[in-house]
Amino acid sequence: MDMSRKIYLFSSYLVILCASFTAAQTSCPPSPVVLHSTLASVCSQEPARSAIGCSMYRLCRNETLDPPIFPVLCDTWRVASSLCSDDPKYADSIGLCNQLQGSYKDAAQFRNCMVPYVGIKNTSSIRILHLQACAEMDTPSEMLGCLSCTAESCPNPLLSYSQGCYDMDMGQCNPWSGFCLSSDASPLGNGAAELCVNPNLRFEAIMAPPRPPSPPPDPTSPPPTRPSPPPSLPTRSPYLPPPGGSLPNTPVPMNSPASPLPQWTPPPGIRNPSQTESVCVTNSSLLECASFEYPATNITVDLVSLCTSMPYMPGCTIRTACQAGQVTGNFCRPMTLLATICADMPSMAGCKSYVTMCKNTSAVQHCKKFPAIPGLPSTSAARKAVIDMCGSMEMVQCETCNKVSCPDYIGAMSSMCAEMPYMVGCDVYASWCEASAAWEQPGGDGNSVRHYCRGAEVYGGATSSSDIPSMLMFFHQRTREILLFRSWLPKTAGEAFGSFIAITGMSFATVLIRTAQHIMVTAAATGRLGPLLAPTLTPPVLWWLPSRGQMLLNLLSSIITLVVSTLDLFAMLIAMTFNGAYFAAVVLGYGLGTLLLGHLRENYQRKAYGAPSSASSSAIVFGGDTEPCCGGGAIPPTTIIGLGSGGINTGGNAMAVMAANGGIGSFRVSSRQVDVLDGKRP
Ligand SMILES: *[C@@H]1O[C@H](CO)[C@@H](O)[C@H](O)[C@H]1NC(C)=O
Ligand SMILES: *[C@@H]1O[C@H](CO)[C@@H](O)[C@H](O)[C@H]1NC(C)=O
Ligand SMILES: *[C@@H]1O[C@H](CO)[C@@H](O)[C@H](O)[C@H]1NC(C)=O
Ligand SMILES: *[C@@H]1O[C@H](CO)[C@@H](O)[C@H](O)[C@H]1NC(C)=O
Ligand SMILES: *[C@@H]1O[C@H](CO)[C@@H](O)[C@H](O)[C@H]1NC(C)=O
Repeated sequence: MDMSRKIYLFSSYLVILCASFTAAQTSCPPSPVVLHSTLASVCSQEPARSAIGCSMYRLCRNETLDPPIFPVLCDTWRVASSLCSDDPKYADSIGLCNQLQGSYKDAAQFRNCMVPYVGIKNTSSIRILHLQACAEMDTPSEMLGCLSCTAESCPNPLLSYSQGCYDMDMGQCNPWSGFCLSSDASPLGNGAAELCVNPNLRFEAIMAPPRPPSPPPDPTSPPPTRPSPPPSLPTRSPYLPPPGGSLPNTPVPMNSPASPLPQWTPPPGIRNPSQTESVCVTNSSLLECASFEYPATNITVDLVSLCTSMPYMPGCTIRTACQAGQVTGNFCRPMTLLATICADMPSMAGCKSYVTMCKNTSAVQHCKKFPAIPGLPSTSAARKAVIDMCGSMEMVQCETCNKVSCPDYIGAMSSMCAEMPYMVGCDVYASWCEASAAWEQPGGDGNSVRHYCRGAEVYGGATSSSDIPSMLMFFHQRTREILLFRSWLPKTAGEAFGSFIAITGMSFATVLIRTAQHIMVTAAATGRLGPLLAPTLTPPVLWWLPSRGQMLLNLLSSIITLVVSTLDLFAMLIAMTFNGAYFAAVVLGYGLGTLLLGHLRENYQRKAYGAPSSASSSAIVFGGDTEPCCGGGAIPPTTIIGLGSGGINTGGNAMAVMAANGGIGSFRVSSRQVDVLDGKRP
């Protein structure tokens, strides 16, 4: 007991000790002030000039850059940190780092307290990654950044590497995506759009935080506590080692050779196109090559090399789905997959054999027998579509698919378009599935990409979604608008005019039917619709039970109400297109209806109640009260009230359908109430 208590105390003491130790390690003195003039002169000479920090600094100072680099990345201390935590080749070439280290207890503390850019720290390594990726391209000009950065000369590795990554991620881009998805470049790389976002996708206006006043202020007045002397004349603090000297405590290894630009040698993984390839691959137009077949092992080798470097290519996604059994049949034949991928990215090294063997003058029948998957979008088309979709609506798929990266464009695209048909960009998806339907074999284990295309059925074959006008939630004017049904899509001015008339007619008809209902109820109440519908005098056993006539009348009324509310809601849905003309048509119909039919109710009521011949009606309406009150030319108050409620009902908008519903009943009640009142009137 006592022992365990001691152990507990001891261990907690240790924990506290460790915590305070690490706290001491990580607590940093205020970061030293780095002047712009210092950075400018440091970045004016090679090799520092091509280091990540100086590349970023140049971008930061570029006034014409749109969108600009966000200020958080442009802080001079960040730039200096990036320079000083870079490869020794770059860091040791400048005296700045040694001066800055003077503000810290020791080299370790200095190293811990620097804040280089997340992900990208080592200029040598991103340069090597970029050159390797370019070497994988058959024609380097096909990939952005490969011409501006070669093994011989690479003036701006960061920019070239970033261009390569937003153009074509071939597995070299982990440092880049680490940076672009970090909080440094947030949101989503927009903080450094020049480096992180493909120019084709920079369509959204990026709201940059305000730039610091330009030119950024150089503290000219009282020099900071530790002013940085001009870096060209590195002064040595007494407690600092001479720069470049070997010291056990220096933060970075000092063993790198002093050669400014090390020769780059291709890494062992890259295949060297050999001259030993079969003659039919290099010279495929030879007649004897007609029966040549590209060996299966070579297909596999090519596919593996392509899909290892760019697993997100649609062809590679399909290959993965084939291996998982989700896609079957002809879609999964290796040669088909190779054809698909090489149609997408013909310049990649893995496609070299295929492209020369299967160029369109080729005699090789093997190529023609295995065409690419019909309609499968290319990587860039799929990426554009997914980005468009995510721009128009925030969906879960957009969490993994953004402007910087996406593990599976095809999957994201098909699931978004299935969930939300007719989204912008879904025409790519719909036309793929439509084209691929030619290969589809229903049933058992046939050919199928239904795993992806199941959601495409709503697109209904021939019509692509591209003709679906987008939904605008504000008043606008245009001809093309989907009205209620997929097929009601006026395209020409004539069709639009016809639709206008039809809509006006529809809302007019609504008023007409409602008036007819009113008249029917009045007629029934006055017994004009025959004895069946006539109200009975004898009260039912239970007051709330309808009489036979009332039941029939309720039935008729409810049928009419179904029709009227359907029309009303149709009118509302049309108005909700926010299209000015169609909105006007709806209102115009209601207005015209009231204008032309508004009087009918009153006239009919007057006719019904005013006719002295209908003894039964007066008997019924007045409940036996035979006082002749309302005959002749006197206008019974009924009509006034009726007109009032009629006015509301006739102009009733769709939102008031329920009220209109009740309106019938309330009319009946109100007319009787009035009638009774009327009867009691002296
Ligand atoms: C600034 O950026 C623009 C656009 O990227 C570029 O054309 C220009 O050369 C840059 N200017 C400098 C001084 O780097
Ligand atoms: C930078 O990368 C190069 C090449 O990958 C490597 O040799 C070097 O040690 C790295 N330097 C640092 C400081 O990590
Ligand atoms: C297939 O690959 C092997 C090994 O890489 C190579 O020697 C051979 O020439 C290739 N065949 C064709 C037809 O390209
Ligand atoms: C390819 O074949 C054609 C037709 O026989 C011939 O003219 C041409 O020289 C050949 N090319 C090579 C590189 O062998
Ligand atoms: C071969 O392709 C080229 C370019 O894609 C095209 O101009 C040419 O017409 C094609 N030739 C044949 C026979 O299809």
